[in-house]
Formats: sequence, C-alpha cells, structure tokens
Amino acid sequence: MPSYAYFHKQFVPLSEAKIGIMTHSLHYGTAVFEGIRGNWNGDHQQVYLFRLKEHYERLRNGCHILKIDLPYSTDELCQITVELVERCGFKEDIYVRPIAYKSSEALGVRLHGLDSDFSIFIIPWGPYLDVDKARCSISSWRRPKETPQAKITGLYINNALAKTEAMENGFDEAIMLTSDGHVSEGSGENIFLVIDNKLVTPASYDNFLMGITRDTIIKLAQNELGLATIERQIDRSELYAADECFFTGTAANITPVGEVDRRKIGNNEIGEITKKLQQLYSDVIRGNNPKYLDWCTPVYKKA
Ligand SMILES: Cc1ncc(COP(=O)(O)O)c(C=O)c1O
Repeated sequence: MPSYAYFHKQFVPLSEAKIGIMTHSLHYGTAVFEGIRGNWNGDHQQVYLFRLKEHYERLRNGCHILKIDLPYSTDELCQITVELVERCGFKEDIYVRPIAYKSSEALGVRLHGLDSDFSIFIIPWGPYLDVDKARCSISSWRRPKETPQAKITGLYINNALAKTEAMENGFDEAIMLTSDGHVSEGSGENIFLVIDNKLVTPASYDNFLMGITRDTIIKLAQNELGLATIERQIDRSELYAADECFFTGTAANITPVGEVDRRKIGNNEIGEITKKLQQLYSDVIRGNNPKYLDWCTPVYKKA
C-alpha cells in the first residue's frame, strides 16, 4: 500500500518527499524528530495513535532548543497526523516519524540564521526488537553527559555506534552507561529492573531520554499493580543480578531482556512482573482498556 508524507505543508506520496544534498541538518545533525506508534485493533477496525500530544510536546521542546520555529500548535500537529494516517489507510501497526529540521541549503556549524521545515511520514512497522527476550551487551560507547532532553538527530551517533557494536558481536541490543559508569539506557529504549519485587529504573540525572513509554509504565505499575518505581542510580553489576529486566520504548514496546553480557537474567524466563506489564501495555495502546482511552487517538471515522 503506498504511503504518504506531509511535506512542504502538503500531503504528497512518500516517494515525492525529497530534500537536497546541501540541507543543513544532513551535515550537522540539526533536526529533531519523534517516533509515535499507531496500533491496529482488528476488533475495532481502528488505528489508535498513542500519547500523540505528549510526543508533540517533546518535539516542541526540542525545536525550542534547536531554535526551530514550528509554525503549528500541538493540536494542529495532532490533526495533521490524524489526517495523514487516515489517508495512508493502513490496517496494521504503524510508526509515525515527524521531523523538524534546518532546511537551508547552507554550510557552517550553527543554529542561527537558517530556515527550518517540518515533515511527517508513516511506515508500517512491527516489533522493533523482534525477539521474545533480548540478548544485550554493555556498550563501550557511553551516553554523553549533559545532552539536551530531546530526540535530536545529531545526538544519536553514539547510540548508532553502540547498536552496531552490539549486533556485530552477536547481541540484539546495547545497554549504554553514563560517563561515570552507571546504567543509562538502550540505544533506543529506556530500561527497568525488577529487584526484590520492586521496579527500579535510572533517575533523570543518568542522561537518558525521558521516555513516554517509561512514564506510561511507571503509571500503569502504580495504578494497576500497586508497584511504585524507584528512580535511582544503577550499577552495572545490578543488571546481572536483577530478577527481571526489560526495555521500554515507542518502537520496542516492552521487550524483556533475557541476558546481559552473557549472564542470564533471573530464571531465564520472562518474569512475572514483566509479563503483567506487557499485557497491560498491549491492551492500553490498542484501545482495549477503557480507563486509558484518553491516551489513544482513534484515526478512522466510524462507518
Ligand atoms: C535513546 C532513546 N531512549 C529512550 C527511548 C524511549 O522513548 P519513548 O518511550 O518516548 O519512545 C527512545 C525512543 O524514542 C530513544 O530513542
């Protein structure tokens, strides 16, 4: 099925959304993006966009940091996205990629004095880490200190180095440490541990991207399982000794971590708390849990 993009303020076939080789953001990483999931619910014949508003609020913060003028309100961005997804008409899980970028065809490292543009495209996309349990390694690439809280393209280079290092060494995903050696995050996911029936995750000072899925899991664990999440510094060795471990992310959903540095986590099965959170999360993002419908934006108009 052909896909469409929102490009230069119009809806166009995805194949027509092209930018020039001199575009500033290609050279200097001066773009900010989001990843948003549309989750297909066959019973409802509906795609639900998950926490659309929160994603655009994070994008807006990133634009502010990069001095990119975003000429749309958050509500307008949500409306454009719904219209684009509707035009595409996919009946499967999709991934929405908005990107705001320095569009001037100009050289020179800077943020000022440049035009910017905004685009969105959509692709059908199933599970990102397509495994029951991810085999992970601690990366030799560290998460840089004091990085802005935004999905800025230029910041992703260490993550890309880490991911490829891990995969070339036979693992599914990398776990990055902070510059002072504490657990930070996966190359595209946040990380949680279960230790003595408590949820533990790195705290905001540990230089990771503050994930929307992370926030969702903290809320679901508290509301539905009565489990508070402890946000604190985590040592590398605590990963090896954890009872359970899982990643959270828009692309990865909830992916259990089965192994870190060739040490099995827990009893080598998907842990009970991880399983419960996976089930809860899967229901919530597909619009199957009436308590959380505020987080789900339906796309298709009912017949
Ligand atoms: C580096 C990184 N950390 C964490 C996340 C998880 O964030 P979210 O749950 O908002 O998708 C992502 C994905 O967006 C990411 O790229």
